[in-house]
Amino acid sequence: MLSRRLAIAVATGAVAALSLGTAAQAAPARHAGHEATLRTLAERPDLLIGTAVDTSALAADAPYRADVASEFSSVTAENVMKWEVVEPARGTYDWSQADQLVSFAQKHGQEVRGHTLLWHNQLPAWLTSGVADGSIDTGELRAILHRHITDEVRHFKGEIYQWDVVNEVFDEDGSYRDSLWLQKLGPSYIADAFKWAHAADPKAKLFMNDYNVEGVNAKSTAYYDLAKKLRAQGVPVQGLGIQGHLDIQYGFPGDVGDNLARFDALGLQTAFTEIDVRMTLPADATKLARQAQDYRRLLDACVAVKGCKSFTVWGFSDKYSWVPGTFTGEGAANIMDENYVRKPAYTALADGLRAAARRTGRH
Ligand code: G3I
Repeated sequence: MLSRRLAIAVATGAVAALSLGTAAQAAPARHAGHEATLRTLAERPDLLIGTAVDTSALAADAPYRADVASEFSSVTAENVMKWEVVEPARGTYDWSQADQLVSFAQKHGQEVRGHTLLWHNQLPAWLTSGVADGSIDTGELRAILHRHITDEVRHFKGEIYQWDVVNEVFDEDGSYRDSLWLQKLGPSYIADAFKWAHAADPKAKLFMNDYNVEGVNAKSTAYYDLAKKLRAQGVPVQGLGIQGHLDIQYGFPGDVGDNLARFDALGLQTAFTEIDVRMTLPADATKLARQAQDYRRLLDACVAVKGCKSFTVWGFSDKYSWVPGTFTGEGAANIMDENYVRKPAYTALADGLRAAARRTGRH
C-alpha cells in the first residue's frame, strides 16, 4: 500500500512532478489561480480528499485525468470494482479496468478506496439468475460469496486502504434490507463478509457504507448498534462510510457532528464516501450557494472528529454525474461544471481545508 506519507510527499512535490502525458498540457490554463489544489490543502488537517473515478473518462478525457491527478489524494472506482464487472462470467475474472485505476493512483501518489465487495446492485447476471432458478442453492451461494470476497481482496492486497465491505444493507427504518443476501443467507452474512475480507488483507480498514446515515436517525442508529455488537463479538468492522448524496431541496441533516462523534467513541473510523449535492435544474446562484454550504458543512463535520480521515466526492465534474440519469430534472451536483470550471462548492471546500489547516491538533 502506498503510505499516506508518500501520498503527501508526492502531492507536496507539486503537480509539476505528475506524469500526465497530454493531460499535463491541458492543466495550466484551467489551474490558473488554483495553484493550491484540494489535495495539497488537505495535508495539514491530515485528510485524504477523494473522488469516484469513471475509468472510461479517465482513459478518454485529458482534462478529467489532469484534475483527478492534481486535485485528489484518494480515488474510488465508481463502477469497475463491482462484482458484475470483475466476474462477468462465472469463474472468469476481469480486473483490467480496476488494475488500470490502481496503477494510475500509484503513479500519482494516491490511495485507493475499494468499492464494493457486497451489494444488492450490479451483481453478475449468472449469479442472480442462478439464485432465481434454484441452480445455486444456499450452501453454494455462501461458498460463492466467500470466494468472491477472498479473491477480490487478495487481488488488491496492500493496494486498498479502506474497503466498503457491505454496501446499503439497511432500510430507512433500521431493519435489514430484504436483499438476496438476507433472504438466502440470513443476517450472519454481514459478519462473515468482514471476517473473510480481513483474512484476505488484514491491513485494510473495513467499512460498512450507506446513504441517509449522515445524521442521527433510525438507519444510522442501526449501524451504530450493529457495529457495537459485531465489535463485541470480535468481528473486524473498523468504519462507517457515509455516502453523502444530498439534495438542496431537503434540509441539511442537522446532527452530523453528533453522529460522527458516537462512532468515534466506539473507536471506529468514519469516512464521507460518495458526496454530491444535487438540485432541480437549472442551477442558479442561490442554489449553488446553498450547495456550497452543504459541501462545507460535511467537510467541517469530518475535520471536527478524530476518526474521519477521508472525504470523497462522487465524481467532481457535472460532465459525468450519475444524478441526471436517476433523478429526472435534477443535476449540477458536483464541485465543477461540465467544463471543469470550479463552482462555489469547490471554493467552499478549499476554504474549509484552509480553515482546518489553521486550527491545530486535530490528530
Ligand atoms: O457497463 C454498462 C455498459 O456495458 C453499457 O453499455 C451501459 C449502457 O447503459 O451501461 C453500463 O452500466 C452502467 C454502469 O453505471 C457503468 O457506467 C449502468 O447502466 C448504470 O446503471 C451504472 O450506474 C451506476 C450506479 O451506481 C448503479 O447502481 C453509477 O454509475 C454509479 O455512480 C452508482 O454508484 C452508486 C454507488 O455504487 C453506491 N451508492 C449509490 C451510488 C449512486 O447510485
